[in-house]
Amino acid sequence: MLPNRVTIVDVGPRDGLQNEKQTVSTAHKVELVHRLQAAGLREIEVTSFVSPKWVPQMADNAKVMSGLRRQANVRYSVLVPNMKGLEAALPTEPDEVVVFGAASEAFSQRNINCGIAESIERFRPVVAAAHDSNLKVRGAISCSLGCPYQGAVSPDEVERVVMLMKGIGVDHCGVADTIGVGTPKRVQAAMERALKHYPLHEVSGHFHDTYGQALANIYACLAMGIHTFDASIAGLGGCPYAKGATGNVATEDVVFMLNGLDVETGVDLDTLVDAGAFISEALGRPPVSRAGKALLAKRVP
Ligand code: HMG
Ligand code: MG
Repeated sequence: MLPNRVTIVDVGPRDGLQNEKQTVSTAHKVELVHRLQAAGLREIEVTSFVSPKWVPQMADNAKVMSGLRRQANVRYSVLVPNMKGLEAALPTEPDEVVVFGAASEAFSQRNINCGIAESIERFRPVVAAAHDSNLKVRGAISCSLGCPYQGAVSPDEVERVVMLMKGIGVDHCGVADTIGVGTPKRVQAAMERALKHYPLHEVSGHFHDTYGQALANIYACLAMGIHTFDASIAGLGGCPYAKGATGNVATEDVVFMLNGLDVETGVDLDTLVDAGAFISEALGRPPVSRAGKALLAKRVP
């Protein structure tokens, strides 16, 4: 039995664009969010409040947030690594914030410049202050299936961070395969550890598609009843601190698969494909999404 309905969090504007070397204008970023919401996405990760020295592409975070024409039924989230990030994010009125840790010490150091234990101490006041402002806090656990510096990562290492996040009150647990090395059975083993501490509706998968395993991994999660997944329009992205890692699974591909499984997403695939074509054109390359490319090709008379 698969879930009847899946919630897709489109992380394209954040995870997708953070890695772009070329300048992407604030207007294009805002337009991308508008196109995603027009396609029916109800959860959109818009930007991140991180150091502009580390991730220059997200330096216009507040401008993007203030440029949005918001829909009441859409939740707009932003990444915040520390109190400084949260303090900058709060005036822009996100609906939820995301703290991001890692299951591997080495990746934690490279990505956020501190070890796992210290990252949790940085997140602790962020979670408390976000809750004081009635914001939900999602937690992302990078490198849950493998690390570009450490190599293999065990389910025990994942569970350790799941428990640490839970201990500081993080509401939602996102299990992330930053470098896309996970395969279905190993993904299920990692997810089982998250599900020991969080309910089904507060566990999600975030699968980069570097090795082409993301859809298979999502299917493996669906079989466990997990019904929330991150995906990135046009398959954009990667992490600046995970060299060679490609984008997240393309939202178009996930919606195409779920349509075929009769699982509801609320997303209109044609409008979504247009959104993918829009941002790909702005970036000067074809969409990475296989379904996006195929559907665009079919439109040519
Ligand atoms: P740090 O250097 O350790 O921080 O960076 P610090 O507290 O020592 O401060 C150093 C300087 O940074 C100071 O400025 C601070 O004001 C400034 P200076 O006095 O030198 O001019 N600073 C900030 N500026 C803006 N916003 C902030 C902020 N904090 C400090 N929030 C920090 C620590 C986390 C900030 C840094 O390492 C950083 O920004 N890292 C970027 C991490 C990142 O964005 N990675 C990509 C997103 S995560 C991801 O993609 C994975 C995910 O998709 C899941 C998956 O796939 O795995 C979520
Ligand atoms: Mg990611």
